[in-house]
Amino acid sequence: MFSRLREDLASVRERDPAARSTLEVLTCYPGIHALMFHRLAHGAWRRGWFLVGRFASHIGRLLTGIEIHPGARIGRRVFIDHGMGVVIGETAEIGDDCTIYQGVTLGGTSLYRGTKRHPTLGRGVVVGAGAKVLGGFTVGDGAKVGSNAVVVKPVPAGATAVGNPARILDSERDAAREQKAEQIGFSAYGVTRDMDDPVAKALHGLLDHSVETDRRLQAILARLEAAGIKLDDTVAPSDDFDPGRLSRMVD
Ligand SMILES: CC(C)(COP(=O)(O)OP(=O)(O)OC[C@H]1O[C@@H](n2cnc3c(N)ncnc32)[C@H](O)[C@@H]1OP(=O)(O)O)[C@@H](O)C(=O)NCCC(=O)NCCS
Repeated sequence: MFSRLREDLASVRERDPAARSTLEVLTCYPGIHALMFHRLAHGAWRRGWFLVGRFASHIGRLLTGIEIHPGARIGRRVFIDHGMGVVIGETAEIGDDCTIYQGVTLGGTSLYRGTKRHPTLGRGVVVGAGAKVLGGFTVGDGAKVGSNAVVVKPVPAGATAVGNPARILDSERDAAREQKAEQIGFSAYGVTRDMDDPVAKALHGLLDHSVETDRRLQAILARLEAAGIKLDDTVAPSDDFDPGRLSRMVD
């Protein structure tokens, strides 16, 4: 019990530049107090003393503003910074060395009792202020969840998820794809960092299609002209259609 507390205090001092002394962390950090209450509550829960567990968790919530269900499993050196408004559900699991900021929900989307309804955070995951991670999936080791993100799908280890619904930031891969697309003389407007958004996906699909149709029409007109067939009277000159601009608008 005390060795864990010592570890927790040391990890807060390591991770919070605002922490000035161990005594300050012990007396003024609600995340530390919430974990102490959770250890009591979880111990009672595992012995089958469900009401005692719930009550200990409730007292912890009253004093800290952090609600941790007594059934949740929390690893070592977890740092809940500020903490107000954090909610951690019954079947949530939090790996060692995770950092969780205020307003985070590790919640469920299904109401079936006895199933794994809440997420599992791997080791060293950082969940930004106000983020909601909803469902019984895994956020991989070392992943980051941006503040206010709403995560409803697994996040690979080391990845960064931001936005609502959350998408994975992968700027290097996007840049490489764009570069390749430019080399072949056609920009893959369907390849964007918002591929998780179904509306953006549909619009980019339409843009891709119209660019390709335009390119084929130009090729046909060029061949007809080369064959001596002029279509000036029947085909209007090409307008200033700029698919790149439209693509950026839906990004
Ligand atoms: C998500 C996060 C970890 C990303 O950090 P990072 O890897 O350094 O990424 P960057 O700051 O370089 O941002 C990369 C891109 O993601 C965007 N982004 C960053 N955080 C975002 C967020 N929370 N929501 C939406 N987009 C975000 C940036 O605008 C940038 O977009 P661009 O490539 O179009 O310019 C960080 O921004 C974050 O939210 N951390 C949580 C911090 C927190 O909650 N602190 C509370 C202290 S009390």
